[in-house]
Amino acid sequence: MQDFREKKRRGERVTSLTAYDYPTARLLDEAGLDIILVGDSLGMVVLGYEDTTDVTLDEMLHHTRAVARGVKRALLVADLPIGTYSSPEQAVATSRKLIGAGAQAVKLEGGVSHAAQIKALVQAGIPLMGHIGMLPQKVREEGGYKLKGRTAAEAEVLLADGRAVEEAGAFAVVLEIVAAETARQITNALQIPTIGIGSGESCDGQILVTHDLIGLFPWFTPKFVKPEADVAEEIRQATKAFIERTQAHRRLTAED
Ligand code: KIV
Repeated sequence: MQDFREKKRRGERVTSLTAYDYPTARLLDEAGLDIILVGDSLGMVVLGYEDTTDVTLDEMLHHTRAVARGVKRALLVADLPIGTYSSPEQAVATSRKLIGAGAQAVKLEGGVSHAAQIKALVQAGIPLMGHIGMLPQKVREEGGYKLKGRTAAEAEVLLADGRAVEEAGAFAVVLEIVAAETARQITNALQIPTIGIGSGESCDGQILVTHDLIGLFPWFTPKFVKPEADVAEEIRQATKAFIERTQAHRRLTAED
């Protein structure tokens, strides 16, 4: 995990994407990513839920096992799903299950509020990636995916969250939908890398949901994503070609 601090010191960017299945994990790993995350975004882009708040630990374990079979060199991080890290003891117990499923590190949402959980995990020898800013597991309480850190007061709260996560022993921290200037300040204040999603270009690294990057979830693409492919359209075209090819010749029947 020290590698990530050194990477930051050298000014090298950290690259990270999500995976939820074996072939995607293997492809991402072969392409040379630093971190592959089994995110609880699994709920939306794979399981068809409205948000991440219905994702269960069993679902995370099932998909972490699949991803672990495909990852040889990237660091494999798995999300702690909602309701599974309310206390330090519960966080450690849940994380041990994810590590048993093949994760090498875990991620949880929260800063100052979850410093005790992060400390307990690090003491138990489980590497932890923090996640502050917009917290998708709170999307229902907050009424949407809203930009964080716009005002000076909000920026201070986020800076305190970043510091708490670092002091508790995290090796990196995700900044989700944080105002670019605030993300820059947090990045400058911390020794561990900040990994941004919708938080501008000043972060030490970037993370995206793979389905957004490759255009595999065409019904919703966050504003900050610039897709690099249109896999949904490829699937539609291949399916139509298959239907046409199959239906082109009538099957011979007894009457022929
Ligand atoms: O669940 C997820 O996919 C995430 C990120 C993309 C940061 O937490």
